[in-house]
Amino acid sequence: MNIEAIFAQKFGTEPQACVFVPGRVNLIGEHIDYNGGRVLPHALHRGVTLALSLRSDDVVRVASDRFEGVSEARTADEPTDSWAKYAHYTMRLAKDIGWISSGADIGIISNLSDGAGLSSSAALCVAVLKALREVTGRSESDVEIAQFARRVENDYIGMPCGIMDQMAVAVAKPGEALFLDTGSLDYDSIPLPEDVSFMVIHSGVHRELADGRYKQRADECLEAKSYFGTDDLCHLTLDQVEGAVDLAENVKRRVRHCITEHERTVQAASHLRARDFVRFGESMNASHVSMRDDFEMSVPAIDRLVESAVEAGALGARLTGGGFGGCIVAAVPVDASEVWLGKVLAQHPDAFLVE
Ligand code: GLA
Repeated sequence: MNIEAIFAQKFGTEPQACVFVPGRVNLIGEHIDYNGGRVLPHALHRGVTLALSLRSDDVVRVASDRFEGVSEARTADEPTDSWAKYAHYTMRLAKDIGWISSGADIGIISNLSDGAGLSSSAALCVAVLKALREVTGRSESDVEIAQFARRVENDYIGMPCGIMDQMAVAVAKPGEALFLDTGSLDYDSIPLPEDVSFMVIHSGVHRELADGRYKQRADECLEAKSYFGTDDLCHLTLDQVEGAVDLAENVKRRVRHCITEHERTVQAASHLRARDFVRFGESMNASHVSMRDDFEMSVPAIDRLVESAVEAGALGARLTGGGFGGCIVAAVPVDASEVWLGKVLAQHPDAFLVE
């Protein structure tokens, strides 16, 4: 069923606006978007399709193709169903910033699995804001929409994420990578190659970023920020970290990851521009080791999947997203990708191809 049909079935009317917002996969640059770094995500073809109509009262109703029933609550109240919280809290933010004074009916179709590290929640928040921009005739830019969507996560959901996901899904187009400076929000688009595929494989291990482990890492980075007196951990030097004798070892490892991951991301963007996929793949492999050993955000099932991906002929492979489960991304020559996929999936029965 398409979005208009679902909307009509659930709410009995036609929507005032329909938008599509893609998911994203991050090629390299993990957990550095709240530490002053540059990141390299790209938009997927998959994503969230959302239909919306403003209401005359203050009620927000949300229906999704993936859940039974309709969640219904006034904007100031808690949504009746937790799956509706991103749409609901985005409506609350829109009211708080003066975009709207009423509620809305919202219909959602999504082919991004939750807990996969593909930014399903950022896509949903951005989609609500883009639909609201359309129905209210406002003129905020996509970058401003990304900033508001981040506020929903940070201030309403309580997830201390950076700005990468919201920028990637609000601004990037499928087929190009977004080389984004998360400090200044300046960005360049780099076309993806035609002869190398970035294959996204779900490990079968699901996780919820709000489950605490993401926040624990963000808190460790906060400790380092206050120790070094800077928010830009990526711009410290390894010597400074080694010299920090009274900083806890685990916190030092987190900072080391930020510094080296940032360097790798800047180099990887140059390799992508130069079409040097051997070097690009090496940066991906080194990134995985750093996430596994220094940032400690991997899990054994993901490590095994990355290992098999490389053994089966990927130029490089790494965990992607917030960590502790979800997906890997692997750079694979297009003409070898079918055989490669068969080999990898044969060894990992719980894993499956996302894109
Ligand atoms: C999640 C967050 C992002 C980013 C990544 C890790 O996707 O939402 O802000 O920190 O994890 O790179």
